[in-house]
Amino acid sequence: MIGGVGGTTGPDQEHIWTTAGQRKPGMSPEDYIKESILDPQAYVVPGYPPIMPSFRGNITDDELNSIIQYFQTLK
Ligand code: HEM
Repeated sequence: MIGGVGGTTGPDQEHIWTTAGQRKPGMSPEDYIKESILDPQAYVVPGYPPIMPSFRGNITDDELNSIIQYFQTLK
């Protein structure tokens, strides 16, 4: 969910850039978000089921970078 739009299947993403920098000590928000999209089961947010599909092989570098740029605005 972002800005009240979306659902509760996954964690609220309103402040994802900040959250992403706190999930794994020493890992940057960018690296954590990329890992979450390409290899979602590498870290599963407590309280949620491991159901997020991997987008590896199904997303271009441009698309991935667009998501990163957008998420960077969600501090
Ligand atoms: C382009 C599409 C998607 C993006 C960019 C995305 C991104 C992310 C990110 C960054 C996280 C980590 C959130 C955090 O640490 O607070 C996450 C977690 C999660 N996502 Fe997604 N997601 C996408 C699609 C989906 C889909 C299609 C599903 C389910 C059908 C899903 C289900 C979940 C769930 C359940 C979690 C929490 C458990 C976990 O960490 O794996 N996501 N997602």
